[in-house]
This record gives sequence, structure tokens and C-alpha cells, in this order.
Amino acid sequence: MTIQTLSGLAQAGALAGKRVFIRSDLNVPLDQGRITEDTRIRASVPAIRLALDAGATVMVTSHLGRPKEGVVGPEDTLQPVADRLSELLGRPVPLVRDWVDGVDLKPGAVVLLENCRCNPGEKKNDPELARRMAALCDVYVNDAFGTAHRAEATTEGMVRFAPVACAGPLLAAELDALGRALQSPRRPMVAIVGGSKVSTKLSILQSLADKVDQLIVGGGIANTFMLAAGLPIGKSLAEPDQVDQAKAVMRAMRARGVEVPIPVDVVVATTFAADAPATVKAATDVGPDDLILDIGPKTAEKLAQQLRQAGTIVWNGPVGVFEFDAFAGGTRVIAQAIADSDGFSIAGGGDTLAAIAKYGIADRVGYISTGGGAFLEFLEGKTLPAVAALQAKNA
Ligand code: 3PG
Repeated sequence: MTIQTLSGLAQAGALAGKRVFIRSDLNVPLDQGRITEDTRIRASVPAIRLALDAGATVMVTSHLGRPKEGVVGPEDTLQPVADRLSELLGRPVPLVRDWVDGVDLKPGAVVLLENCRCNPGEKKNDPELARRMAALCDVYVNDAFGTAHRAEATTEGMVRFAPVACAGPLLAAELDALGRALQSPRRPMVAIVGGSKVSTKLSILQSLADKVDQLIVGGGIANTFMLAAGLPIGKSLAEPDQVDQAKAVMRAMRARGVEVPIPVDVVVATTFAADAPATVKAATDVGPDDLILDIGPKTAEKLAQQLRQAGTIVWNGPVGVFEFDAFAGGTRVIAQAIADSDGFSIAGGGDTLAAIAKYGIADRVGYISTGGGAFLEFLEGKTLPAVAALQAKNA
């Protein structure tokens, strides 16, 4: 199903003199009010420029964090984002605090509307709130791929009430790149899923087990798989109640003729700290007080070989505590193998992006998604409510 796009409207001259409302995902990590990673802001600039260059007056909004509705706390304000946006656009981007019932704008202006998740009714997709916000604009643009899996008033509800609704260039590019990679992937297709908990990634593991040729698990998830394989894991992070689910994923891959690789060696410490002494052990030798904080060098090399031969690689989540240098070896080797692979690689998720940045491989990854949860839900083949709303609008 096709979706109307902002570029299509710009080319048709349909934006000149119009009030354009752009829902972006500017939900960036902050440390005491300072932006620590601005990929999402930079990725949102093309839509804003496109609308301004086409003669529109532009309102942009986003959520930031998961605030309480009805108040804008000091942690919730988009002011740091407004400052960064004005640097990137090279023009002032004032932040408008109360905006739901009207925004005073000069033609050709651009403003940032304060954290939309602070408005009562945003999260439960209140139709009355959506209707009031849609009345602010002539054209509604969704450019927030990272929030497309949430049915909220600015992502889903507004589409129904806005006179015109379309996808911005970032949303359109994400759907195009991820869709192409998944619909006709070059084989073998290898997925690597890391992170701390099986329970948060169980549905993605189950659905990838149906699609991919090889499934690699890492991080705390791999610890639970080690438990399922009958290996000792000491005091490592794991979810014993997810062992049956891990076994089911292993069976599903076995039915397709491959094994989920279980680490043959690991890097352990007895405390979770950056300066904890790191010891490489065979997976069978993990002691009762050990914490597994990374995969070992033999395991990393085995997995790297698999990745180098892949036709398509999907990567979500580090394989160890890569923030601590002594436990970063596994993730570094994996990242390097993905960069060296001739296959098409797609990566997404906050930690994955941080690892890509740490190892400087961004320009050697086929496509880097701005989505975290949205990226995973797309991979699972779930319908993203914000996308479904745009499709229904233009059907
Ligand atoms: C994200 O960071 O994944 C998106 O901005 C969505 O945020 P949420 O999980 O708070 O809805």
C-alpha cells in the first residue's frame, strides 16, 4: 500500500504557504540537560528543510522520555533539542510551551512544540486531543520511525483528523530500506540479537527463528541459552524462567538444520565494574562466583566467520558489556566482522548505535535504523500503527 510523502507534496507545490506539522522522533539521550548522542536530531533535519524550502510554515514536535502527563518537568523539556536544531538549521528555533490550542506563527517560520507526551491524552491516543492538534495544521507529517510502533495522539490519532497526512523522508527511507532487506534478503541471512534479557526480546527471537538462516544470541540473552544448554553460568545475569523459551528457539533453528551457537569460551569477573580483573574461561569452567561479561575470543572468532559469510545481517544488541574496555572484545570483533562482510547489514537499537559509534564502523553498515522498539517490531513483521494510519488515510 502506498503512502503519500512529503517530497511528493513538495514536488507538487502543495506546501507553499501551508502550515505543516511534523511529528519527529527527537527522543535523544541526555546527561544533565546535555545531549550525548544526536543522530535522531540530525536525521530529522531533512524533513524540516524540505518543508521550509517548499514555502511552508513549520511546527515540529516529539516526545522526550516517558514523562507524567500534565506537567513539563525539568527533565522533560525539549529546550536542549531546540538549541541543537537551531544550530543544525542555522536559524533560531523557538520552543513553544503551550501549543495545543493555537500557535502564533509568522509565514515561513519554524518552531519546536514542547514535549508532546506531556499533553494529557497523548499516550492513550485521545481522539479529542488528536482533533485539536490536527486543527493546527494544513498538512500533518509523520517522520518519527522510532515511535511508529506507538499508537499515540501525535503518531496515529492526528492522521485521521488532519486534512492531509503524509510520511516524511526519514520514515519513508526506513520503511523502504528495512522492507527491501527483509522481503528479498540475500542468503544466508544471519541475525545477531544481544542485550540483557530474553524476556524483552523473546518475540523477536521467535519470529527471527522462522526467517533467518542463522541466529546468534549474545549478552545476558546468551547466558540464558547457556543455562538451557546445561552449562554453568555462576552468578551471571540470566532468566531461569525463560529457559524453556530459549530451548524452543533452539529447537526451531534445529528444525531448520542449524544450531544456535552457544559460547565455547567467555570472559568473566567476580564484580560488575570497569576495573574488575577479566579472565577468559572455557564455557564449561565458569565458577559459582563468576559473572560472564563477554564472549571469549574463540567464540567471537567463530561468530565473526559466520558473519563474514552472510548475505544479509540483522544486528540488534551488543554481545558483552562493551562499555567496559576489558569486556568489549566480543562486541568489537562482531562489529568489525559486520563492517568487513560483503553482505548487506542493517542495525538498530540504542546500544547497537553506541557500539557502531565506538568502533567507527557507521559508514560500513548497510543501513542504520533510528528505531529501537520500532526496528524490532518491524523485523517481527508487526504492523506499526503510525504507518497503518497513513496507509489507511491514503487508501
Ligand atoms: C525509542 O527511544 O525507542 C522511541 O523514541 C520510543 O520511545 P518509547 O519506548 O518511550 O515509546
